[in-house]
Amino acid sequence: MTDQAFRLRELINVNKPMIDPANKDARIIAVSSGKGGVGKTNFTVNMAIALSKLGKKITIIDADLGLANIDILLGLVPRYTLTHVIKKEKRINEIEVEGPNGIRIISGGSGVMDLVNLSQDELDTLIESFEYLNKDSDYILIDTGAGLNQSVISFIQAARELIVVVTSDPTSITDAYALIKNIKHLGVNIKVVVNRIESNKEGYEVFHKINSATTKFLNYELESIGFIYEDANVKKSVKNQVPFLIGFPNALASKGIELIAYNLENNSKYDQPNGGFSKFIKRIFKSKDRS
Ligand SMILES: Nc1ncnc2c1ncn2[C@@H]1O[C@H](COP(=O)(O)OP(=O)(O)OP(=O)(O)O)[C@@H](O)[C@H]1O
Ligand SMILES: [Mg+2]
Repeated sequence: MTDQAFRLRELINVNKPMIDPANKDARIIAVSSGKGGVGKTNFTVNMAIALSKLGKKITIIDADLGLANIDILLGLVPRYTLTHVIKKEKRINEIEVEGPNGIRIISGGSGVMDLVNLSQDELDTLIESFEYLNKDSDYILIDTGAGLNQSVISFIQAARELIVVVTSDPTSITDAYALIKNIKHLGVNIKVVVNRIESNKEGYEVFHKINSATTKFLNYELESIGFIYEDANVKKSVKNQVPFLIGFPNALASKGIELIAYNLENNSKYDQPNGGFSKFIKRIFKSKDRS
């Protein structure tokens, strides 16, 4: 082979994508909890950063109707939400906000609540606009609110994986169990993260408590994907509006998140293909009894 031909071949190989983007679907993961305030939003944001450090393209959907948590944590001020997309006032690429490490953030706004009540035309608009998120993301992380309302159930149903965040607080454990009991029939793969631990032993114990209950009473075995230590840097980061994975990359909490990201990417179970975002929206749509 001539030198030039060799270089050309090298160039082509470098530029050749590993996966054909046209056939690639994102992993859609809902992050939820039984009890509120256990660390879902901090987990979602920092997890997105950890995954992006592994070379992944991440989209976060803020589907928590309560406070605009994600934006506050990142110090961002999105002006538009999914409601504008549904009403055809904006295109999806006009409502997205870029966070750290190129993470794309989509605010649900009240549009999230309307998702199960869309007309066919509105649904079509959304399906079309979300298809591009799916093709352009490796992971779509959805921060849902705590507890169970129709909107949370819809998002969990639409995702193929659910991460339940729990702490050692007994109400967090019983509420996580209740959440799992109520959504188990949806067939999503349920993973557990124990947050705010003081020791690994505590993490194993909390996971064991929930898992033994679901195994015994629901005949369902959970997957542990890791623990995050109680860490004063988390609170500081919230105050500074800079995620701890960026502000305190060597903090215990950051190390925990990085390990979970690694586990998620390399060791965790998930079903592929998930059918992409159009299926995602259709599943949401179907989750309401319309038929
Ligand atoms: N690993 C941790 N170490 C110390 N503090 C933590 C940790 N994780 C979360 N926190 C504290 O808990 C607070 C609530 O976290 P976060 O907002 O992420 O919870 P949430 O589950 O999203 O709450 P909500 O249900 O209201 O949406 C944080 O502001 C922080 O002070
Ligand atoms: Mg939150």
